[in-house]
Amino acid sequence: MRTPFIAANWKMHKTVVEATTYAGIFRERMARVRDAEVVLAPPFTALHAVAATLEGSRVGVAGQNLHAEPQGAFTGEVSAGMLREAGAAYVIIGHSERRQLFGETDETVNAKLQAALGAGLAPIVCVGETLAERESGRMFQVLNRQIEAGLVSVEAERAGSIVVAYEPVWAIGTGRNATPPQAQEAHAHIRQRVARALGGDIAAGCRVIYGGSVKPGNAGALAAQADVDGALVGGAGLDPGSFAEVVAQSAAPAV
Ligand code: 13P
Repeated sequence: MRTPFIAANWKMHKTVVEATTYAGIFRERMARVRDAEVVLAPPFTALHAVAATLEGSRVGVAGQNLHAEPQGAFTGEVSAGMLREAGAAYVIIGHSERRQLFGETDETVNAKLQAALGAGLAPIVCVGETLAERESGRMFQVLNRQIEAGLVSVEAERAGSIVVAYEPVWAIGTGRNATPPQAQEAHAHIRQRVARALGGDIAAGCRVIYGGSVKPGNAGALAAQADVDGALVGGAGLDPGSFAEVVAQSAAPAV
């Protein structure tokens, strides 16, 4: 049985004051949640303050990105060790916005993945096709490439913490979520490819979560699919009430 994993990616939203206010409200809402792993991914500036606000709760904190090197002359960048010390236990890697707007590739994803695992951060690796790729029948090919190249050379002993997020680019911020059968089809495929890359045991335990216009109205139906193990939430994760509702629906039997 895979523990549901639900994360809110705040992207470039929330000041320190806004972020800690949210975290204070949200930790109360999560007080009774047991069998779900719940994570907030604030911007770097608010990460330490959010982690401090959540201390002693069951809600974890993720960075939204990292640099693959441990330190050095990389102006504007943040390392895995820095995230870890600031209070993060997780980090999002290869979000489609990073790939599309900041030139990230499967190779940089893999380098960041190795750095995260080396520092003891659980990586949330994002994959997903664009609308053009889906409509031209290249969805599986794109997912295969992203998984194979992204997860190459990962040591099996370390791979158990990897979460894979399926985020079809056409569903992000558009209000048009993948239907539950579309999500299931992609997730089952991803799990097969994770098995090829990391072995069957890792794949069977790997949380494959869905992202793209998840909201309280659709989270339950998506989470009911056999290979959908939770959600990576953008817009609906910006309000503690709506994110708590998504958590409740994604972990329905356990909350
Ligand atoms: P939305 O939920 O706003 O579509 O964003 C999804 C996302 O990109 C989460 O990482």
